[in-house]
Amino acid sequence: MKIIIVGATSGIGKSIAEHYISKNHTVGITGRRTEKLSEIKSNSTNTEIYAAFMDVANTEESRMGLAALVEQMGGCDVLIINAGVGFPKATYEQEMQVVDINARGFMALANWGFEYFKTQKKGHLVGISSVAATRSSPYAPEYHATKAFMSSYLQGLRYRSAKWYKNIHVTDIRPGFVETAMTEENKTMFWVATPQKAARQIAEAIESKKAVAYVTKRYVLIAWLMKLMPDWIYTKVM
Ligand SMILES: NC(=O)c1ccc[n+]([C@@H]2O[C@H](COP(=O)([O-])OP(=O)(O)OC[C@H]3O[C@@H](n4cnc5c(N)ncnc54)[C@H](OP(=O)(O)O)[C@@H]3O)[C@@H](O)[C@H]2O)c1
Repeated sequence: MKIIIVGATSGIGKSIAEHYISKNHTVGITGRRTEKLSEIKSNSTNTEIYAAFMDVANTEESRMGLAALVEQMGGCDVLIINAGVGFPKATYEQEMQVVDINARGFMALANWGFEYFKTQKKGHLVGISSVAATRSSPYAPEYHATKAFMSSYLQGLRYRSAKWYKNIHVTDIRPGFVETAMTEENKTMFWVATPQKAARQIAEAIESKKAVAYVTKRYVLIAWLMKLMPDWIYTKVM
């Protein structure tokens, strides 16, 4: 299988890449920190690893970069868009960065991927969203908003494929807390997964072509609570 992971230099994306690399798939990895991409390559005996610099905030460049990477790999079966940022107590500038990367950057690549899969009449698009897509929070409204955008966009593409492009699959991955650089400063986390465990569950969800998958699985309960809790209780709890 030929798999591309956008945002593979650290955390969840790196673990997903390492998972598929260890299974000898052809793997494309991208990120801004190219030295981290080289490290992943040099730590493996798999010769089918293709690395490319990509800053998803530069939407036109990243769409062209993705096209070039797919060409270099001789195709793509699964495109996993994982690149994302979140900041504790974000400034206005950071909030705009979150939108540029998690929403605009994501959509630019998801759109490219879906169109590409249309031309080859098959493929699997995967977005790493978050449980945060379920409902907003007082701590990082910009982050929750961009994840809701991601999940909604993926849902629309899934309806589109069900209607017209039956061989294109779309999976929305919604992790709970995972121990990565992004969550380093968060001291209030619970049910925290390692990136390796998250990657294994993500690969399982992709394999079984799930529409939506919570990672770890028990986070479905948190999503359910977030969805159903009356506003006045949610306001108090948060
Ligand atoms: N950790 C959690 O608890 C958690 C929970 C739910 C959802 N998520 C989501 O999981 C995804 C991965 O996060 P993580 O926790 O693994 O954090 P991380 O270790 O900080 O990894 C973020 C990845 O995104 C890439 N990235 C960030 N900005 C980019 C840009 N402008 N262009 C290209 N790549 C960019 C980074 O690569 P470079 O810096 O090299 O560019 C890195 O590979 C994110 O979408 C995040 O929202 C995480």
